[in-house]
Amino acid sequence: MNQEKFRGIKITGTGSYSPPLKVANSDLADILDTSDEWIISRTGIKNRYYNEGRPNYLMAVKAAELALKSAETNASDIDYILFSTSTPDFIYPITACLIQNVIHAENAACLDISSACTGFVAGLDMARGLLYSGYNKILFVASECLTQHTDFTDRASCVLFGDGAGAVVLERAETEKIFTSYLRVKGVSPDKPVLYYKVEYEFNCPFEDKTYKKPAEYGKRLQMDGKEVYKFAVEAMTEAASAVCGKTGLTADDIDLYIPHQANIRIIQTAVKALGIPPEKVYINIEEHGNISSACMPVALDELSKAGKLKAGMKICFAGFGAGLTYGAVIMEI
Ligand code: ACO
Repeated sequence: MNQEKFRGIKITGTGSYSPPLKVANSDLADILDTSDEWIISRTGIKNRYYNEGRPNYLMAVKAAELALKSAETNASDIDYILFSTSTPDFIYPITACLIQNVIHAENAACLDISSACTGFVAGLDMARGLLYSGYNKILFVASECLTQHTDFTDRASCVLFGDGAGAVVLERAETEKIFTSYLRVKGVSPDKPVLYYKVEYEFNCPFEDKTYKKPAEYGKRLQMDGKEVYKFAVEAMTEAASAVCGKTGLTADDIDLYIPHQANIRIIQTAVKALGIPPEKVYINIEEHGNISSACMPVALDELSKAGKLKAGMKICFAGFGAGLTYGAVIMEI
């Protein structure tokens, strides 16, 4: 028997934070050539929240504090802070260190991970490894301020994204619980990365190589080949969810709840249909938040927890995809 898959983890607390500015499709239609009808029918999104130029780490801290409160845990009991984002305020220091300082988690090691929208799935897998390597209590926060990267003149991408943060407190399960992961990447060319935000450094090396030819123009903000991402996303979610079930020895029917990455309702619906999953088992909150990248899943967990819908023994399948092109899924028995 594969014992490794029974080395599970438990969620002892959840928290989430959405910034106060709620932006409806009609608000975007005031500044762009778009409409509520187009956005809802093509994406399933009605609202999203904007952080209005405030730093990302402040949203992360709010979600972290709420998760600690719900876990009835002091910050000083946390021995590891794992943080996921694609939209940090600083290249360094890492955001986990800023959170550590503000919440006074003086006994915590800190690490940021960046795997775009797959960040929560990748981070869960990493957190499990850390818990079985000797850490006892992990605060895992995902917070995204996508408005920092969004090109508000590009109607095909800017209507999709929002800002927000989610957090969970994780510990080793005391009894055998299932945990299995499947993580993959469909590589992209650095000259044409499909979905990206290129850091624009001011070049200042005094020994610049004049013969080096820069690749074609990357564009200033978030760039996305929407159709390419759409096609990849459906295949990636379907492959990852069925592969992780196969690895675990479960069928789609054995899963109690699916929490997919919330990028576009049509991507979710197509993948769910291909996998034969009953739609009532799939949690969807894209209508309210838009795409908040790696924060989608912990925000979903907090909403489910507050609604009393997370029950001990449930098997949850998380499936995500994002820039990279990264993708993957985790099955976790809670
Ligand atoms: N409002 C009105 N019209 C629009 C808008 C808009 N906001 N955006 C595009 N259009 C127009 C286009 O210009 C085009 O017009 P044309 O036919 O006159 O040329 C028409 O609508 C159709 O455009 P398409 O690109 O074919 O629209 P599509 O149905 O493919 O939807 C979308 C576009 C929503 C971007 C879709 O391709 C998609 O969701 N892709 C995946 C995006 C995604 O998941 N990104 C993030 C993933 S990873 C991460 O989360 C970071």
